[in-house]
Amino acid sequence: MNHTDKFDLDDLLARLKKAAIAPDAPKAIRAILEETVSTPEAVAIGMPTFVENEAILFEDETVSIWFCRFMPGISVPPHDHQMSATIGIYRGAERNDFYENDPEINSENDDRGGIRKSGKAELSAGEVLSIGPSAIHSVTCTSDEPCCGIHVYLGKLSTVDRSLFNTKTNETLKFTDDNYHQLQSLNG
Ligand SMILES: [Fe+2]
Repeated sequence: MNHTDKFDLDDLLARLKKAAIAPDAPKAIRAILEETVSTPEAVAIGMPTFVENEAILFEDETVSIWFCRFMPGISVPPHDHQMSATIGIYRGAERNDFYENDPEINSENDDRGGIRKSGKAELSAGEVLSIGPSAIHSVTCTSDEPCCGIHVYLGKLSTVDRSLFNTKTNETLKFTDDNYHQLQSLNG
């Protein structure tokens, strides 16, 4: 079967699940996502319609596959994943800002220090980004239309202990829905 002709979500999920347990899983997953989003219109047409901006397409102990939609002008606060992540964009564009822990940055309430910006990556439909298990990033939708992507994490993302970062107070927070929404409104 030629995978590039038509987008089939079930076929993609089956291939990603297999790749997640391959010897070089991040590379195998990246290759599949690159091929998939090389025809972004086909993916946009073939994906189901999601009401929510996030949907878990599949998850087990080895892999989590998410649909994510970021709305224009909205920023997702800095966070980690504690596992490798590969992101393929099929609609719109986003900017990823990367951060590093910096113990020299002081916080009134948190002796772990803060984070400082260390780089960025602009991504648009048809492109793939791979980030390592210790990466910290924030994401901003930079297109006039929503930015839609398929995110693949090498582990069970919904149960792992993750962090959010408040760059105003330099505090590291537990990744909870409440903290997430509070930081999102802070970042405006
Ligand atoms: Fe992320």
